[in-house]
Amino acid sequence: MNEQPPVLVTRRLAPGVVERLTAHHAATVHDSDLPMARADLLAAVRGRKALVTTLDDRVDAELLDAAGPGLAIVANHAVGHHNIDKAACADRGIPVTNTPGVLTAATADMAWALLLAATRRLGEGERLLRSGETWAWAPNFLLGMELTGTPLGILGMGRIGRAVARRARGFDMPVRYHNRTPLPPEQADGAEWLPLDDLLATSPVLVVTCPLGDATRHLLDARRLALLPPGAVVVSMTAGVVDEVALAAALESGALFAAAVDNFEHEPAVPSALLAQDRAVLAPHLGSATVRTRQAMGDLAVDNVLAVLSGKAPVTPVAR
Ligand code: DGY
Repeated sequence: MNEQPPVLVTRRLAPGVVERLTAHHAATVHDSDLPMARADLLAAVRGRKALVTTLDDRVDAELLDAAGPGLAIVANHAVGHHNIDKAACADRGIPVTNTPGVLTAATADMAWALLLAATRRLGEGERLLRSGETWAWAPNFLLGMELTGTPLGILGMGRIGRAVARRARGFDMPVRYHNRTPLPPEQADGAEWLPLDDLLATSPVLVVTCPLGDATRHLLDARRLALLPPGAVVVSMTAGVVDEVALAAALESGALFAAAVDNFEHEPAVPSALLAQDRAVLAPHLGSATVRTRQAMGDLAVDNVLAVLSGKAPVTPVAR
């Protein structure tokens, strides 16, 4: 039987990234922008030493067992890693890596793009123009919410949350945030820590960037969304933290002025209740989607594989 190339890459990567890998190790690349079917993935992992995965690949005990005892690293091409059963990897001594840092700026920029689009009703305006309907400038036509000077709430003041906060300076927005633990002052950079419910009650504009985990799944459910001030705007940059159906209901009732969502809990599905909302700006998981950032994410995933396969420590390991 022919030996498998040692590395499996489950998705087409940015130009030149795979070549950096194959200069050292043979690799099989699933040459597509779509995820591998589970059965194909289970068959393809057999005998591999390294896997480069994306958020759509479920890495669990079944997959690790299908790979066999030679698997030495799972390198996720994402900062998120909720697709990976870290305990199952740790039980088998397999390091998991992600791509932190390199996508911070691109993702914070996208949070701002969505915040501006939602507050200034760009989606509605664009759809109106393309519909061919008659329109005219008028004092009350498509009025939005002005961000300058408006308090900004950030749920999840990690790297991305802090980058969103830095960008708020240009809009003179006071920043409040919630993390499980308040940040040291040099990291908080003037932002005020509040308990979660207090943050919600005082945030006319809320950006959600906290990672998805057992403690954060549906953290913003119907009850917590109802704590926001009337006419608030919510921007969700992490799948699964905001209950999408509850968000749609809050838009439908008029409790929220607008919302924007970049990641969805069951991608590629988007709840029909949310699709029906004119005040929802919906993006197909574009947070890190710039040429420069996708290149850097691919390079970092490959750096991790190269390090581990040459007996070194991974560059950006994920803590269990
Ligand atoms: C990640 O890397 O976790 C992001 O969701 C991709 O944009």
